[in-house]
This record gives sequence, C-alpha cells and structure tokens, in this order.
Amino acid sequence: MDPFWSGRHLLVGVSGGIAAYKTCALVSSLAQQGAEVKVVLTAAAERFVSPLTFAALSRQPALTDAEFWQATRGRPLHIELGEWAEAILIAPLSANTLAKLAHGFADNLLTNVVLASCCPVALAPAMNTQMWRSPVVAENWQLLQRDPRFWALPTAKGRLACDAVGEGRLLEPEALQAYMLALLWTQGRRDWQGKQVLVTAGGTREPIDAVRFIGNPASGRMGVALAVAAACRGARVTLVHGPLGIPFQAEPFGIQVLAVETAAQLEQALNTLFPEVDVLWMAAAVGDVRPAHAFTGKLPKAQLPETLPLQPIPDIVAALSQNKHPTQRIIGFAAQTGDPLPLAQAKLSQKGLDAIVANPIDLPESGFGSSHNQGYWIPRCGEIEKILPCEKAIMAHQLLDLALQLG
Ligand code: C5P
Repeated sequence: MDPFWSGRHLLVGVSGGIAAYKTCALVSSLAQQGAEVKVVLTAAAERFVSPLTFAALSRQPALTDAEFWQATRGRPLHIELGEWAEAILIAPLSANTLAKLAHGFADNLLTNVVLASCCPVALAPAMNTQMWRSPVVAENWQLLQRDPRFWALPTAKGRLACDAVGEGRLLEPEALQAYMLALLWTQGRRDWQGKQVLVTAGGTREPIDAVRFIGNPASGRMGVALAVAAACRGARVTLVHGPLGIPFQAEPFGIQVLAVETAAQLEQALNTLFPEVDVLWMAAAVGDVRPAHAFTGKLPKAQLPETLPLQPIPDIVAALSQNKHPTQRIIGFAAQTGDPLPLAQAKLSQKGLDAIVANPIDLPESGFGSSHNQGYWIPRCGEIEKILPCEKAIMAHQLLDLALQLG
C-alpha cells in the first residue's frame, strides 16, 4: 500500500467482453493499494462478470444501468460520478462503447459519466483482431483521440477468446495499473512526449568461464520502473538491460529492448544508441572489474585458479558525458552504503553528469532487489531533493518530474 494511491477517486468502466475477468484483478489490486474504486458496468459487461464480483473486490457498490434509471431525490448519478472521478479507465473497451464515445452517444450510465466528467480517461480496448482492424473501428479510435482527454492504450498480441492469435487482447492488469499511475500522477499530461529516452537497467556479468561470472544482485527494477513511467508519459523509450531478476513485458509500453550481459556489450550498445537520445538514465549496476582472461568451456573444479587476475572496466557513463551534445542530459545512479551524499556528489562531478540519484542499499526496503527505494536527487545545478521511501514505480515518476526541471 503506497500513500500515493490512498483515497484516490478512480472510476473503472467495464464494457462487454470476456476480458472483463482481467479487470477484476486490476480493481482488486487498486483497492488493495488504498484507492477508492467505483466500477460502472454496461449491460453487456454484466453478462460476463457480476456487479457483485466488482463490489466485493472494490468494497464499493458496483454501478449499473439499473441504478442509472432509478428515480432518486439526490443529484443524478452520472453527474455525481463524473464530478467524483479523478481519472477514468475503461477496460475492456468494446467496439460498441468505443463507437458510442466517439460519436457522443449517451444511452447508458458509463457513456453518460464520461460525458459528464472532465478528468482524463484511459481507454483499453479488447476485441477480436478482425473487429479491431475493421475500418470503422479504426476510424472511431482515431476520432476519439482528437480529444487530448483520452489516453489510447495499446492492445496486446496473443491468443484471443475466439482461438485466433493476433492483436486485440486486453493489456494485463499490471500494465493497466502502470498507465493509471501515470495518468493520475500527471493529471493526463503526456509531459515526456517528444523525448527520446534511453534507460539502462540490471547488473552486468563478467565471465570467468562458460558458467561462472562476476556479477551483482541488481534486479533491474528501478531502471524498468523508469522506462515504464517514461513510456506511459509519452516518451519513446529504449531499455538496455543486463539479466533481470523480475518479469518484464516491454510490448504494452512500446519500449524497445536490448538485452546484454557484459559491460563491454552495454558500452557498445550505448555508443550506438546514445547519440540519438535526449536523456540517458544510467540505472544499470555496471561491474567495476572483470577477469583479465575468460576461460573457454566450463573449467573442472580441480582446475579453477586459486587467484583471479582482474582488470578495471572503463567508466561508460563518464566517457559518454565527455562527448555529449549540450542539450543531452545524463542521469547516473550511485548505490551506496553509509551516508550516500558525499560519495554521490563526488561521482556527479567525476563522471560529468547532469544529475545523480544517490540511494542507500543498506537500509530496509530500499536498494538492490527491493520493490521500494529512497534517496537523494542531486542535480549539477540546483537544489538537492530528498526522496522518501516509496515504491520504485512512484520514485520513477518523482525522478521524471525532477529531470524535466533540468531543461
Ligand atoms: O562508480 P559507480 O559504479 O558507483 O557509479 C555508478 C554510476 O556509474 C551508475 O550510473 C552506473 O551505471 C555508471 N557506471 C558506468 N560504468 C562503469 C561503472 C558505473 O557507466 N564501469
């Protein structure tokens, strides 16, 4: 449970499609995070999932057209809900509800709520590939996106309920939640749109032989969280990562991915990619040393050397910052034990960075492998900002806000 979600007013619209079962998991997760979630079902949605399911998961009455048409003495339900919502997500969005929204129809509770509200609305379509590709659906989809209030989320590829394999699947609950976080955080502004962002994540592995290596316990969580948050906020993102300790799907966010193992591979990838980017987030835990020689094949235990000559790994980010264009920004990370500030400040200037994120790795709930983090934002020019313990997904959004101030 993160304080960011606590008491947020989220309205989840469900239209008719079998993918509505995934929305149950999302609603459950948002409610567990502490958000107030009100679910509005269309008549077709009720055929797939009972309002009772959503009511139980959200701990709120789930609302249907029956409530919409009920005579009340209070203000109309759709007006109340429209004013109440800070953000709306419609998942799944059916071809029918899409057509209604695109053309301003208001014949049920959900379409009326959308018209009566002014908050940002995320739309997560789900339908058969043929339906999704049909010209009239494509036209309605484009039409709706002319209004910047609507965030058009992609569909996923895969096996559909009709057994076909293709586009049109609803995004998974984790991806929907990441988009909802960005939508709420930015109040619907795509404030990283137009920026090309490069993120590195995870640790590097330097081979001793075919199976043994020198590595570190970086999971890649912080870098992945940054890549996802930047993509949700409109950036074009490339993620270069070492072996990850977490499951990660790039497709829902349109993130380009390049997997590497060694620091040399990471360096080569960055040398190619860096000239094209506006901002580099160097969150990878790059090794500092590697074995001077890597043995071919797997050495038998008896032949393992007693000592291992090492050689230093060149500082990749320091080399990149020497040749960067004045408009490019490079942000490094310094994972430290003890007081992270003095060492991180030294690294900021040694490496020629625009900012560095200093984070302690010796405190509970932060650092390597944890889903949480904390630390300091230290810009080359400007004020140091303390970042209180929070989920890495939340910290990623804080860092993106701060990086925008670098200009
Ligand atoms: O010097 P230290 O490893 O603590 O610095 C961390 C920062 O420098 C991180 O941003 C990391 O990605 C980067 N780094 C690098 N090349 C290295 C070692 C670290 O770019 N060989």
